[in-house]
Amino acid sequence: MARRKKIYEGKAKTLYEGPEPGTIVQYFKDDATAFNAEKRDVIEGKGVLNNLLSEYFMMGLNNIGVPTHFLKRLNMREQLVRACEIIPLEVVVRNYAAGSMSKRLGIEEGTQLPRPIIEYYYKDDKLGDPLITEEHIAAFGWASQQDMDDILSLALRVNDFMSGVMFGVGIRLIDFKIEIGRVYDGDFQRLVVADEISPDSCRLWDIETNQKLDKDVFRRDLGSLTDAYSEVARRLGVMPKNAATPIKPTLIN
Ligand code: TMP
Repeated sequence: MARRKKIYEGKAKTLYEGPEPGTIVQYFKDDATAFNAEKRDVIEGKGVLNNLLSEYFMMGLNNIGVPTHFLKRLNMREQLVRACEIIPLEVVVRNYAAGSMSKRLGIEEGTQLPRPIIEYYYKDDKLGDPLITEEHIAAFGWASQQDMDDILSLALRVNDFMSGVMFGVGIRLIDFKIEIGRVYDGDFQRLVVADEISPDSCRLWDIETNQKLDKDVFRRDLGSLTDAYSEVARRLGVMPKNAATPIKPTLIN
């Protein structure tokens, strides 16, 4: 079989040209990095879990009318997505203080915020993804005012969906990061949720015990990352109880 053309290799995923124009194959690697790749490891099975979990969340969003780039899962490691132009922002939504916000503002981790707080980071590894304001985004033309209105609305809808889904399985959504892509339908352009939504890009705490079930387990050496991600997958029904490997999740459509 002819090798596919590699388009981009990131820290946790590799992108290949898809079978049809306007499509991309997203391959989930087992690599884990933190602190702008200063800390790195290979965690066997992480890519499979993130592929299945991201499919589960993106399909759920598609089903409630929140547009995403997700088309279908191809196998345990790969999914087919719509090609899009990634807006160079990391959009973070926080419901509880944690991580860099706790550090920056001196708020104890786990403190509930008065309302969801949205932050924007400029997506540039060389600069360590610095925190920016809407002033920077407008002045440097990274997104238009209309884009910013749409991004805010998408981010809050993803937050409501993800908070509800996680609450249903006894998990508190502390915060998460999404990336937004621009897709073109003829002359029209619209924004979609892109990249991935997985425990790599969220903070997920057990409601009862506050046990961390996300990438902080790796960042802070708190135990087995695959056990944490498997627990999330198991609770969502993406992986059956006691199974060593995840099964095909229930397709919603
Ligand atoms: P932070 O508290 O480190 O700023 O992270 C906020 C959220 O964004 C958290 O859920 C983890 C996620 N995140 C990423 O997905 N990628 C990143 O590079 C960073 C720094 C955070």
